[in-house]
Amino acid sequence: MTGSGPWWRDAVIYQVYPRSFADSGGDGIGDLPGVISRLPYLAGLGVDAIWLNPFYPSPQADAGYDVADHRDVDPLFGTLGDADALIAGAHAAGLKIIVDIVPNHTSSAHAWFRAALAGDAAARARYLFRPGNGDAPPNGWRSVFGGPAWTRVEDGSWYLHLFDSAQPDLDWTNPEVVAEFEDVLRFWLDRGVDGFRIDVAHGLRKDPAFPELPATLDPGVPVHIAQPGHPFWDRDEVHEIWRGWRRVVDAYPGDRTMVAEAWVLDFARLGRYLAADELHTAFNFAFLVAPWDARAFRTAIDDTLAGLAPVGAPATWVLSNHDVIRHATRYGGGVTGQARARAAALLMLALPGGVYLYQGEELGLEEVTDIPDALRQDPNFLRTNGAERGRDGCRVPIPWSGSAPPFGFSPDPSAGTPWLPQPQSWAELTVEAQQSDPDSMLTLYRAALEIRRDRLGEGELEWLSEPGDPVLCFRRTPGDLICVVNMGDEPAEVDPRATPLITSAPIGADGLLPPGAAAWFAD
Ligand code: GLC
Repeated sequence: MTGSGPWWRDAVIYQVYPRSFADSGGDGIGDLPGVISRLPYLAGLGVDAIWLNPFYPSPQADAGYDVADHRDVDPLFGTLGDADALIAGAHAAGLKIIVDIVPNHTSSAHAWFRAALAGDAAARARYLFRPGNGDAPPNGWRSVFGGPAWTRVEDGSWYLHLFDSAQPDLDWTNPEVVAEFEDVLRFWLDRGVDGFRIDVAHGLRKDPAFPELPATLDPGVPVHIAQPGHPFWDRDEVHEIWRGWRRVVDAYPGDRTMVAEAWVLDFARLGRYLAADELHTAFNFAFLVAPWDARAFRTAIDDTLAGLAPVGAPATWVLSNHDVIRHATRYGGGVTGQARARAAALLMLALPGGVYLYQGEELGLEEVTDIPDALRQDPNFLRTNGAERGRDGCRVPIPWSGSAPPFGFSPDPSAGTPWLPQPQSWAELTVEAQQSDPDSMLTLYRAALEIRRDRLGEGELEWLSEPGDPVLCFRRTPGDLICVVNMGDEPAEVDPRATPLITSAPIGADGLLPPGAAAWFAD
């Protein structure tokens, strides 16, 4: 970080998926003491902060995104004391901590929903129960995970769940819901967290008339992504909620921050979440979904910078997370995918603003595609009877050491096996195997992060390549760095006199940068 502004404007934030990061207890599921034990690794990698996916009490119908109690830790992951120790330990290691808040829905095991089902009118009014049309649900909305978005209860009425039936949606027009979540924020702010990642930040307010989806929606757009005129994504009313949250967060000392998970690809719309009195940053999913193509990346970068400048929010950049196919696989997999993933890391880390890394990308992990159906746990897989493979393949526990599973993820010999099976081929990708290998992905990430920390933060990007050129080339100021990324099929000429600061693949004696490679030069 070189900026003088608040830390979150140009931070590198590492996403820890707790159940797959480090298992201290030996039950095959990662936990908070496991994260604590690996803080030296994260500090050594050179990131600024960690974001933890939900670790709250939960039946785990959606890997913890079905929260039953927002103010505690699931015994699977540890105790509230462990959470406190993790916050303190991270701070002692110089790392900020961001926790996940899931406000769109609760678990069906949450005390509120249980009370609602037991007939408590006040509790029922916190959710979206509606009468059906005869025996049919109130409307034809579909769950993001597949199947209907409504489930019928004993008295014949239906409740809305945009995700799993174990994740009933809250009614955000109810002031009790608003007050409860503001209090949950205070609970974690009081414990010292530095910020929140807000789940489904574009989905909390629904059209009160619950109309059918309009025919104007493009059926080619994935179901979780906002479109104009949508009855539940990116509605204007949602911004009231974020203004309230901002007031809560701003009342605390230090630079606490909020990042929106809002699948809103139009930057003019996304920018509205980042007004000065709303959220600080948002994940850049337009960048994440760009295919390996110079035009697509250039457009995503230009749209980001142009779209966010008017609201004064910093850009963020992200290639992978726990919901998408790992990018080494998306970019072609195998040798090609690895080369491109290395180049993509240099591209992303050279861009102005903040960066999100997903655990394991620094090891070059690919999507695991051969998980047996019987072991798959994603509700997306279960609710579509396997028609959609779901997200388990990017959630496999990461390999730390050794030559056989559990690769140091669980204590060895382990009492249990990792909750999803690790490929034997990961023996070559463990942290241990990569840490002293000068050519490894881990070494590339460490080195690039170090250069980035010294030279780059927010600032300007000036294109040196032409639009349509398969080689992206831009200058960064301040930092005086030139980044070249060859997304074409032919080797690309780079200035033969220049000595690179770092490359993702060697530049040939002929001065040519291979296809699928990137390099940074001092300007
Ligand atoms: C977000 C989470 C995802 C979860 C969903 C429902 O998209 O990232 O993992 O399944 O919300 O909470």
